[in-house]
Amino acid sequence: MKTNIILVGFMGTGKSATGRLVAKRLERQLIDMDAEIERREGRKIGDIFAKDGERYFRQVEREVVKELCERKNLVVAAGGGVVINPENIHDFSRTGVVVCLSASPSVILQRVAAETHRPLIEGGEKAKKITDLLEIRKPLYDAITHQVDTTHLSSDHTADRVIEIYEKAAKE
Ligand code: S3P
Repeated sequence: MKTNIILVGFMGTGKSATGRLVAKRLERQLIDMDAEIERREGRKIGDIFAKDGERYFRQVEREVVKELCERKNLVVAAGGGVVINPENIHDFSRTGVVVCLSASPSVILQRVAAETHRPLIEGGEKAKKITDLLEIRKPLYDAITHQVDTTHLSSDHTADRVIEIYEKAAKE
């Protein structure tokens, strides 16, 4: 039985905010993967990337995915790069309904502009980094069956859509 709800999608598409609302409404536990990784490692994502690199971060991320797939009734807000490893999506899809959130590059930029905790888009030319990374990852996000475009949606409306999708898919 697929009991978990997993939100994937690029940085700034609303995974964490939507995850909080979905978890609250369905009275479920929310796991924000980035927060979980920081808790385990006892340091910030930026420090992990700076000291041990993206490869190490992806290994930790993979371990967290495996453990979450052993659990039930969770709402998971995944990190934006979780789609890079197809095994992550395979495991998530076996144990839950995976919903991909998307948004236009300009809205993503607006949402992440003032923030500094995402190592892959830091260090100048944020807009170019976002469009380049989005271009590379597009096929990976597009391959997810359930999609919600959050460009013009509030977190509340996004949460409505995610719950609708989950309730329909869980019956199938
Ligand atoms: C990443 C997205 C981040 C975080 C890390 C890498 C990515 O999560 O996991 O900085 O590769 O897209 P958010 O999508 O929650 O910002």
